[in-house]
Amino acid sequence: MPLPQTLSNLRLPLIGSPLFIISNPDLVIAQCKAGIVGSFPALNAREQPGDPIELDRWLVRIKEELDRHNQANPDSPAAPYAVNQIVHKSNTRLERDVEICAKHEVPVWITSLGARPEVNEAAHSTGGIVLHDVINDRFARKAIEKGADGLIAVAAGAGGHAGALSPFALVQEIRAWFDGPLFLSGAIARGDSLLAALAMGADGGYAGSAFIATEEANAQGAYKQMIADCGASDIVYSNLFTGVWGNYLKPSIAAAGLDPESLEISDPSKMDFGAAKPKSWKEIWGSGQGIGAVTKVQPAARLVDQLEAEFLAAQERLARQLGWSRA
Ligand SMILES: Cc1cc2nc3c(=O)[nH]c(=O)nc-3n(C[C@H](O)[C@H](O)[C@H](O)COP(=O)(O)O)c2cc1C
Repeated sequence: MPLPQTLSNLRLPLIGSPLFIISNPDLVIAQCKAGIVGSFPALNAREQPGDPIELDRWLVRIKEELDRHNQANPDSPAAPYAVNQIVHKSNTRLERDVEICAKHEVPVWITSLGARPEVNEAAHSTGGIVLHDVINDRFARKAIEKGADGLIAVAAGAGGHAGALSPFALVQEIRAWFDGPLFLSGAIARGDSLLAALAMGADGGYAGSAFIATEEANAQGAYKQMIADCGASDIVYSNLFTGVWGNYLKPSIAAAGLDPESLEISDPSKMDFGAAKPKSWKEIWGSGQGIGAVTKVQPAARLVDQLEAEFLAAQERLARQLGWSRA
């Protein structure tokens, strides 16, 4: 099935995925201007006392800057932006954030940690599409039954709350019954991997960790540098920090005084997005396994240029390897 109109004209079939704390309007605007979907979790727009409408302000700014870009660059318009809603009982802002996003006619909604028909209906009521992120086929079926338009398959090796399944297994099971929009997440940090996602049957990739090492990202310099310095063997899969299994940078865990090789197993009922965490965990940093490809901190636009160059080079290489004729 062809991609919905909203996602059909991207420079690269890629979504810059939402990153808690890290994705901010600067990063989203840079990603969209560079021609990939930029996204942020609604919860990143932190409320200040007496100033509850930061999300509204972020959306006004993103829309204005992208409109200005489109007027100045009619031949290379910005990609659409996306807002991520954490659909979990501990997210007490959900209803209000959904209202604000509907008011702004957000074009792409990404839902995580729960599928709720009323969130999908709110998105559809103003012409938006909903992509729901899932770690297995059972959740994928539930999400589509509840009205999501497309899926993000979060495979093993992804940053944040990663799944444990191989991307091959996950994509093939979903594609056996679902021909709608499907994006693959997990350790995509090079254009070659993006092409591999398409070869497997996905419509595009979903990349997060590589964008932490960009100038626009709202992360400490030491975190960005750790992404640039580390590789797959520096990542540990643990559920200790949020109650949900996720991938983290071992050096950041060691710096908090814990042994990354012997972390306790936590209880999922402890998951609470409103709860305070031990102070020493503040600088435990998430990352996927793909960061061996990241060697420096650079502007997001340059990272997208690099991904595109690799994507095109990988196509050429494959064409030669497989003996495809160039029509
Ligand atoms: C530090 C960090 C924070 C994340 N925060 C969120 C989030 O708030 N919401 C969400 O849906 N996914 C979140 N994710 C998951 C990403 O959106 C995405 O699935 C993942 O980064 C893709 O794998 P990659 O990092 O290997 O590219 C986060 C990932 C990381 C690394």
